Order: sequence, then C-alpha cells, then structure tokens
Amino acid sequence: MSMKMSPSDKGLLSADSVAAYRRPRPGTQPELLHPAYVSSIKRAPIKPLIYLPHTLSEITGPQFGAESVNAKAFDLTKQHAGEPIGERIVVSGRVMDEDGRAVRNTLIEIWQANAAGRYRHKVDQHNAPLDPNFTGEGHTLTDNEGRYRFVTVKPGAYPWSNHHNAWRPSHIHFSLFGPAFATRLVTQMFFPGDPLIPFDPIFNCTADEKARQGLISSFDWETTIPDTSLGFRFDIILGGREATPMEDRGGRR
Ligand SMILES: [Fe+2]
Repeated sequence: MSMKMSPSDKGLLSADSVAAYRRPRPGTQPELLHPAYVSSIKRAPIKPLIYLPHTLSEITGPQFGAESVNAKAFDLTKQHAGEPIGERIVVSGRVMDEDGRAVRNTLIEIWQANAAGRYRHKVDQHNAPLDPNFTGEGHTLTDNEGRYRFVTVKPGAYPWSNHHNAWRPSHIHFSLFGPAFATRLVTQMFFPGDPLIPFDPIFNCTADEKARQGLISSFDWETTIPDTSLGFRFDIILGGREATPMEDRGGRR
C-alpha cells in the first residue's frame, strides 16, 4: 500500500506545541506481564518503563486513502469463486476519539480463523479443515461519521498451547491506524455469550472490568439481515483515557 505522512486532525506542526494524547487509565490496557498468558512471561520488560512524551512523530502518522483500498475487501465472503462455509455475520461500528468524534477515512484491517477455527497460515496446523473459499482477511476505510462495516463468517474457536485444554474464544483481530502513531491499535473483538471468554488469558490481560467488556461486541438487530446474517456491533476508541484495549504486545493467537 502507498502511504503519505500528514499531520493529525490536531493540525499541529510545531514540535514545542504538539497536543499529546491523554494516557489510558491504569488497568484499562493489557498488563505487560500476565502470567496466565504464558508467553507474556518472556516478553514482559524486566526494567521500569521510560516515559516518552508525545512529540510530532507520535501525533502524526501514515494516512491511507481510498486509492490504497480495495472497495470490495470489506466482504470476506466474496473473495473466491464459491461461498465459504459458516454462519454469515455483519460486523460494524464506529471509530471515535476519546471525545466521541468520528475518526474519518481511517484504515481498518481484520483477520480471523474460518468457521472451523483454522487460519490460512502455515503456522496453524490445527486439525480442522481449511476452506478453499475463505482467506480470512479484509480491510476497509471508515466513512465521514467514522463508521465501518464488514461481511464475513463467524470464526470458530480453536485450541492453543497456553495451558491444558486451552481454547481461544471466537474472535476477530482488528488493526487500525487512526490519525497518529499514538492512536495505532491492534486488538481482538469477541462475541457476546461465548462461554470461553471468562477463561481466556488474553481477554483477561486487561484488569479493568469496563475496559475488558468493551472488547465484546453486542448483538445488533439493526444490522441483522432477514434470512441472511446476524449483526454484531463493535465500536472502537482510538487514543486517550477511554481507548479500546490493545492486544497484548506480540500476541497473534
Ligand atoms: Fe486469533
């Protein structure tokens, strides 16, 4: 993808007058060390973190325009000659800053397992079938109100090696850029009512209950299409004190 550098919506170019993003409240982002999530033990820093003020390089970032985006990539069910197997779903929502203002024309990328819980990736050797009609990747831009919409299939749960009988709840990975490097977000969306969620160490990395629950989408009649697909709504906040929790650093499960 091509990209160009441009200042954020804050529109400030002087390094001594940049407006920093507010830092998240304690507990509202994943703990770097969460021993129940075993790989965080080796990844977590063992020395105190150094505070880095936001300067021009943090409040600006790459901007992806319509020329970078395949307009059909929002629909993961139409990327092959045939139809993928699985329950059709619509995932939509709004991307906002911490004051509820729309984050417009920002790139959202998603990736996910197929309906059987298998990624199309050489690292995934889980004993579940691949679907020749499902790649599991999509992208789109938010509109002028910060809204986005994907059409896909509901991903299956899959086992992982974190602990005995470990299963990831159904989830969709999200990657967003927003207006600045400080608003970069990689996270995971979960589905309401999934019995595996309370046992998921990655979900539980975020200590704050309200922030953690913000990772669970809500069932949405408004976007549910009769005879076709269920709708799930997932709103995202980029940056600031109410920011949607980041996926644990380096986490790719
Ligand atoms: Fe995953």
